[in-house]
Amino acid sequence: MAEFKKAVEASKVPPDSMRTVEVEGDYVLIANVDGTYYGMGAYCTHEEWDLSEGTLDGTAVTCAGHGTVWDLKTGKGVFDEPLEDEPLYDVKEEGGFLYVKRR
Ligand code: FES
Repeated sequence: MAEFKKAVEASKVPPDSMRTVEVEGDYVLIANVDGTYYGMGAYCTHEEWDLSEGTLDGTAVTCAGHGTVWDLKTGKGVFDEPLEDEPLYDVKEEGGFLYVKRR
C-alpha cells in the first residue's frame, strides 16, 4: 500500500474511538485520540482478535482477547511472551474521509 487509500468517513471515527476498516484487503485499526488519527494492524498478533473490540486509553489499545496492551505509536505489544509487531499506517483526513497508507 504505497499510496494513501480511501478508508472510511471521518465522522465514523469520532474522538476517543476506534474501528476496524478493510482497505483493499488490509484490515486497519483506525483510532482517533483527541483529534489525532492513528493507524495500526487490526488483528492482534497473539490470536487474531479484532483490536477494535478492546479498549482505547490514550494511545494504548488493550486487546479484548487476553489483555495484550498495544501502543498505537510504535505497533508494539506488551504481553507475557514476545509478539510480532503490528504494521503502522499513516492516516490523513481530506474532504470528510480518512485515507491510510502503510509505512
Ligand atoms: S488475541 Fe490479543 S491478547 Fe490474545
